[in-house]
This record gives sequence, C-alpha cells and structure tokens, in this order.
Amino acid sequence: MRTHGKYIHRVNMKLDQIGFWSEIKLEIIKKYACAYTSIMKNQSWCKGYVYIDAFAGAGKHISRRTGEMVPGSPLNALEVKPPFTEYFFIDLAEERADVFIELARENSNIHPYHGDCNEVLVKDIFPMLGYDTFKRALCILDPYGLHLKWETIKKAAELATIDIFINFPIMDMNRNVLFADFDKADPEDIKRMNDFWGDESWKDILYKEQKTLFGETEYIRIENYRTLAKEFRKRLIESGFNDVPEPILMTNVKNGPLYYLYFASQKDVANNIVKDIFKKYEKGK
Ligand SMILES: C[S@@+](CC[C@H](N)C(=O)[O-])C[C@H]1O[C@@H](n2cnc3c(N)ncnc32)[C@H](O)[C@@H]1O
Repeated sequence: MRTHGKYIHRVNMKLDQIGFWSEIKLEIIKKYACAYTSIMKNQSWCKGYVYIDAFAGAGKHISRRTGEMVPGSPLNALEVKPPFTEYFFIDLAEERADVFIELARENSNIHPYHGDCNEVLVKDIFPMLGYDTFKRALCILDPYGLHLKWETIKKAAELATIDIFINFPIMDMNRNVLFADFDKADPEDIKRMNDFWGDESWKDILYKEQKTLFGETEYIRIENYRTLAKEFRKRLIESGFNDVPEPILMTNVKNGPLYYLYFASQKDVANNIVKDIFKKYEKGK
C-alpha cells in the first residue's frame, strides 16, 4: 500500500487509463463543483451541501496522454474550496470501495459504501436529502456503461434537491444493443438498456417494424444514438429537472462517440453555469 497525501493506493490495484475527453470531463465536474460550493456556502438556510460520487472509481487514473497519474472525480471533489460539508463515495468493486473506507478513517465527513449505487442511493442516501432537510447535493453518475437505472435518476428528480451529471454511455449501447437488426442484441443487454431508459420506448424511437418476404416480423434501425440522446434530454426535463443543458459529446481520438455528458438541475442558475462551462469546451473541440 502507498500513500499519496491522504489517498491510499494499493500497489496491486489496477488503475484505469483515461483518454483526453475523460480528463476534460473531470475538469468540467471540478469547475462546476467549485461554483456550487461557493454559491451554497452563502445560503444561510442551507444545512449542508454534499457531494455524491455514485460510480466513484479507484480515486486515481493514468492519463493516456501523459502516462501520469491524475486524480479521479472523488479526489478532485475533496480538493474543492470551499469544501462540501459531506462526501458519499460508492463503488461496486470491493477494492475500490476500500480506498474510501480508508479515507473515511481520517475524515468523518466521508461516507464510503460498497455496493450497487442504484440501491445505495435510493435506500440509504436519497432519504437523507428530502426537501425539508435543507440539505442539497451534487451527484455524479459516471458509469462505464449501462449500469445506471432510470429509477435512480427519477428519484433524484423527485427530491428536487440534487444536481446531477450523467454519463450517457453511447459506446456500450452501440456495441451491445443498438444493432441495425434488433434481433442481434442479447436479451441481457436489452434488459440493461430497458433499466437505463426506464421502459422499452427507446425501441420504438430507433426501430421500425416490418414484414419479411416470409411473413415474419423484423425490427430495422431507422435512427441512431443522436436521436436517442435528444429524447433522453426530454425525458430528464419531463422527470422534473428544469431546462437541461444540451449535453456535451465525448469522443475518442478517431472521433468515435464514447458518451454524452448531461447535467440536470431544478435551478436555472445551475443550468446556466453549466451551459457556460459546456460552451467553452465545445468551442475548444
Ligand atoms: C468510469 S469509473 C468512475 C470514474 C470516476 N467517476 C472518475 O472520473 O474518477 C466507473 C466505476 O463504477 C463502478 N461500478 C460499476 N457498476 C457499479 C454500480 N452498479 N454501482 C456502483 N459502482 C459501480 C466500477 O467499479 C468503476 O470503478
């Protein structure tokens, strides 16, 4: 085990290599987090403004660009000034959750969880953030793929106390679900997509039913992930978030789409801050 400041890094723990656009994502989240705590600190009614990293990761990554270690979203959050009043870190991988269990020994404002964040958020964390608690939260929902459930997003929207960043995982969708011929998709992957979307309506948006020469029904894709992303934005707004900013598209070095980064909040001021941040990065593309 090695210590970098207060961060414990298990030497054998495999770190993720991250590309340029993941570094940008980290920068965007950090920028918003700084604006968020600066504003919340001055709200005299507010009894706490907490940070939730639901797919927290290993705490650090290796930059593909430089080969150097870069702090992940949880460590960035711990650096934000003024600080959040509490931190909730969740990861499904035991050794990753252990990193935060170690950190929590030194900082009683850190609450580590090992488990599926969809359950932990809905059962353990969201109930502490009801409107009347006068607590507010920034929640990062940043999975690798289709591991987030719509029910979780919906619950966050209903609370009206939580701002969220969401990774809309195009790569996983394109590789495993959104085949030109719907029948090529594995039922397990279709289920993951249904859980993420909240129902099966994504299929009607993307596919057209037609009869083959032999009278069988087949489903042919007529739209792509861009259409789906537009619909997802509408879904976020309908679920109770206000004006959701246009998401920012993250691509790989060959310009292949990886994911959209969405932000959603009930507060216009929050949405406007993120629109400005996104605009700056869109210009730099
Ligand atoms: C993309 S990484 C997170 C990176 C982190 N947000 C950052 O930028 O530093 C995704 C993490 O989610 C974890 N994970 C996957 N499914 C999960 C689930 N259902 N609940 C909680 N964590 C999960 C994985 O173990 C992995 O560490």
